Amino acid sequence: MNPPIEAILGAAGAAPSGDNTQPWRFLVDEREGTIGLRVDEERDPSPMNAGQRMARIAVGAALENLLRAAEALGWGAQVEDAPPPTLALVRLRDRGGEAGPIERALADRVTNRRPYDGRPVSEEDLALLERRARGLDGVRTHWIVGQDRLPAWADLIGRADATMFGHPDMRLAFLRKVHLDAGDGEGAPEGLAPSSLELTHGDRLALRVMRRSPDWLLRLGGAGRVFRAKARQLVLGASGLLLVVAPDDDEATDLLVGRTMQRAWLALDELGISAQPMMSLLVLDNVLRLGEAKLIESLGRGHVSGLLEEAQALAPEIGEGRPAFLMRFGYAPAPSGRSGRLPVPASVVAHAPPVPEHPGRGS
Ligand SMILES: Cc1cc2nc3c(=O)[nH]c(=O)nc-3n(C[C@H](O)[C@H](O)[C@H](O)COP(=O)(O)O)c2cc1C
Repeated sequence: MNPPIEAILGAAGAAPSGDNTQPWRFLVDEREGTIGLRVDEERDPSPMNAGQRMARIAVGAALENLLRAAEALGWGAQVEDAPPPTLALVRLRDRGGEAGPIERALADRVTNRRPYDGRPVSEEDLALLERRARGLDGVRTHWIVGQDRLPAWADLIGRADATMFGHPDMRLAFLRKVHLDAGDGEGAPEGLAPSSLELTHGDRLALRVMRRSPDWLLRLGGAGRVFRAKARQLVLGASGLLLVVAPDDDEATDLLVGRTMQRAWLALDELGISAQPMMSLLVLDNVLRLGEAKLIESLGRGHVSGLLEEAQALAPEIGEGRPAFLMRFGYAPAPSGRSGRLPVPASVVAHAPPVPEHPGRGS
């Protein structure tokens, strides 16, 4: 039997990615029964994706989905090392088992940017989340909850958002990915639909003005303060934060961070808990490690390092680990809209034809 590649890749492509850039490439070899995963570096050349780290995290999330879908469809899936630029090679083996349905959560998981209602997650559910989202190969998950901890994080994330969106290059890179012309509730096959960002008509207008305004005018108008207050409010209403911590700075670890984050997100979804990555701190960390010198200088190396030191101090339990992914979680109604996806073939770059199911004899 040939593996159900289309269904498996459909599930992989439902993974989250920074600004919905869908930076994965799948190299399909149906004869060998393998799928290679790579980063398509052209999908997100923005400064938020310095060194393509955010893209590798997204590929990790796609890999987690791919493995789960293959298993559900009755196929054994083994991850093998592969020569760069391939990040991972998945070998599919027919286990001869029954094909079951693909987990509902793979398609249902969504970024929910609404305000959350502040209700705490029960001890029992937190224990379940910890078990289900256990990290891979030294990557760890930390669930930060409690009114004694969240306000300081809210303040810090607010300042990180103000720093990131306060920089003209980063703000414009973000604004370019928002489809301000899309109608209410309308998705977009890539990039961000206004409804998924919960933008009011007033917000849309403000973003249009922002696109055209010079930096000095925005500073004068206090745009940084607006981003700061918004992020702060969003964290204050959350039940908690999930921090995924990496043991090192290796590229291969980014893939494991993505897989671990996706495990956590799917586990949250199954419990009816909403989530939204809030990555400004880690995007800034990434700029310091892998970004261009000019950008680092204009952001202020000392300022960004200071924010990261604060994060480390707020989470002493992470020790020497590197914070690699941060998201808020909590209870909220469904989002007003969701981002769309490109069709599967847009991400498939090689395709060896399948072996015929019933090869003709004697031919
Ligand atoms: C590496 C990474 C970084 C992200 N950073 C943010 C973020 O800072 N803020 C945010 O609202 N969403 C963030 N997202 C969520 C994406 O915008 C979202 O996954 C994408 O738009 C697709 O939408 P969906 O998650 O609803 O399928 C991030 C996702 C990934 C994988």
